Amino acid sequence: THISYDACAAQKGGYDTFMQKEMHEQPYVIKETLRAHIENNLAMPELSGLDVSKINQIYFVACGTAYHASLYAQYLLRTWIDLPIYCISASEFRYGNYRIDENTLCIFVSQSGETADTLAALKLSKENKAQTLAVTNVLGSSLARLSDFVLYTCAGPEIAVASTKAYTTQLVLLACLCLKLAALCNGDVENKYNMINQLKQMPEVVEEMLQQEDKMAEFAKLLTNQKDAYFIGRQLDYLSVLEGALKLKEVSYVHADAYMAGELKHGPIALIEKDTVVIALATQPSVAQKTISNILETVARGAKVILITSKNQNAEGFDYVIRIPDVDPLFSCIPATVLLQELAYYVAKEKGCDVDKPRNLAKSVTVE
Ligand code: G6P
Repeated sequence: THISYDACAAQKGGYDTFMQKEMHEQPYVIKETLRAHIENNLAMPELSGLDVSKINQIYFVACGTAYHASLYAQYLLRTWIDLPIYCISASEFRYGNYRIDENTLCIFVSQSGETADTLAALKLSKENKAQTLAVTNVLGSSLARLSDFVLYTCAGPEIAVASTKAYTTQLVLLACLCLKLAALCNGDVENKYNMINQLKQMPEVVEEMLQQEDKMAEFAKLLTNQKDAYFIGRQLDYLSVLEGALKLKEVSYVHADAYMAGELKHGPIALIEKDTVVIALATQPSVAQKTISNILETVARGAKVILITSKNQNAEGFDYVIRIPDVDPLFSCIPATVLLQELAYYVAKEKGCDVDKPRNLAKSVTVE
């Protein structure tokens, strides 16, 4: 008998697309990444040789999804250490007159380790004598070879153009790195053991989110006939919506913008009309209520709202609500991101888009 064999389908391991396969690999690759960087309940990314005493400012530099991961790291370090922390898009870095010197630590985040703008920023930082650290997914990539220090995410090969597992592994690795830098620069982060414990629970937390796939697929139907979508959030939720909006436009071609919830009334609300879809994140207890007020302003104008929030947040009156598990607010972007990946994925599927190879996009951009 003849058994037909399709090498590409086989590589997808039973999933429809690489993107879906890679989303589902997240619990495993997050676990691997944590295993590589946590030891004896301490965040232990290997940084021997790094001269911490010299560092008086830290820059994160990256493009695309990796830039969003860098914004997260900037937020964590700003919370945990007492130095100026900057996060700059690599495509802007060379032209921005930044004051890089031997007292600067420059951290480059890149899945491929080959993005032209990120490599050019590395070169400039080295010329200015900064210490350089790469966070990448590809062993022996240019970024890994040329940086003073390198830390690897353990996402494995990512085939789909839209980044999913590389991003969430960046988030957990950067959280470990920030805990370590905080310990080196400032003394330890308050409740660091709790932080580590929370990180160790991320594989299960993400698994729980993957099990909500059907619900996100249902919510995705709200967007299939829309030209636009508005994502809103505050603080860390704002960073998650930046990534959620990027994912949606990449794979489904729905025009998506992310706004800080408080900025809505300064312009974007003019665009909200009956049946506009708003995707709102309110996972940060300190500001959730304010975001809910902003959401209500859109509801008053006829918007349909998909709300992602925490277990205890009152969400009465909202039709499309999904909740993330109880985690420290500093980590809620990890489960929230997985939900937004699913949303983008199912909008694209429903519209019949080529999810793995969106038009006009490249997996790795090696020209400026
Ligand atoms: C391209 C990809 C994005 C990615 C960005 C940065 O635009 O399509 O998914 O985030 O490059 O890539 P890097 O390999 O540097 O993380």
